[in-house]
Amino acid sequence: MILYFSGTGNSLAIARKIAEATNDQLMPLIEAVQQDLTNEKRIGLVFPTYDFNLPPIVRTSVSQLNIGPKSYVFAVITCGGQTGNCVWALRRLLRKRGVELAYTHKVSVPDNSALAFGRNPNNQMSKFDRVPERMEQIISDIQAQHHELHYAWWSFLSWIMGLPAMEKGMIRTLRPKVNPDKCIGCDTCVRICPMENIRLTDKKALIGDNCTVCLACVHACPQQAIGTNGREALKERQYRHPDIKLKDLIKR
Ligand SMILES: Cc1cc2nc3c(=O)[nH]c(=O)nc-3n(C[C@H](O)[C@H](O)[C@H](O)COP(=O)(O)O)c2cc1C
Ligand code: SF4
Ligand code: SF4
Repeated sequence: MILYFSGTGNSLAIARKIAEATNDQLMPLIEAVQQDLTNEKRIGLVFPTYDFNLPPIVRTSVSQLNIGPKSYVFAVITCGGQTGNCVWALRRLLRKRGVELAYTHKVSVPDNSALAFGRNPNNQMSKFDRVPERMEQIISDIQAQHHELHYAWWSFLSWIMGLPAMEKGMIRTLRPKVNPDKCIGCDTCVRICPMENIRLTDKKALIGDNCTVCLACVHACPQQAIGTNGREALKERQYRHPDIKLKDLIKR
């Protein structure tokens, strides 16, 4: 079983590749918390890095997963370059549930948060050049049930950056904001938000407090009406993994 969380498709594309190669079922991580996974022989977790740490929703979901202690559990973490504290944080969470993390690897792909800092994720497409080789290694390792955690040497610094206060700061800074003058009430953001955190009021999008800062809404809005970090989302900076369609990310 391959469980994924993805805002703009990078993690979904990787999860799909693994599931195709291993013949595993693919399921959104958020839905998997309601499943009995105790008899699954192999469980893969595929998700992005946020602020050198686990995305808040990944942390919450993993701590509710119903996994048996004998499963081979692995994680593939997508990132713009550095996964920081992700491996350690995930290992700690799983251990609390009596499960040992067997294998992890990272895949560097375009950084979807770049638009929040005035950069363009679409200028980072060359990162995909190295993905096939990395995926070949990961899939062969998983099929051999290889045990190895690939982690960052600077995890201590990352651990500091992942402290709850830092995480709260990141969420506060990056939390999306709607420009009501641009919003046409098309509903795309409502349907793409994995947290069900956006609703329409008087045909205008309204973002609630339960945001995991995946930036899916910012990248998907056809009117560029949702900004982050005080910046408007320019059309040319909106990003989605080239193999992933909008409907693949919209579940409702
Ligand atoms: C809020 C936020 C924080 C991020 N922080 C990091 C980071 O600390 N290190 C990194 O390498 N990439 C970081 N990224 C980039 C994402 O991890 C990367 O683009 C990922 O592949 C997105 O996955 P998705 O397309 O499946 O949502 C961040 C992205 C977001 C939205
Ligand atoms: S996707 Fe954009 S235009 Fe459509 S409802 Fe949301 S904010 Fe408004
Ligand atoms: S409001 Fe936007 S950024 Fe926050 S969880 Fe929903 S889609 Fe992601």
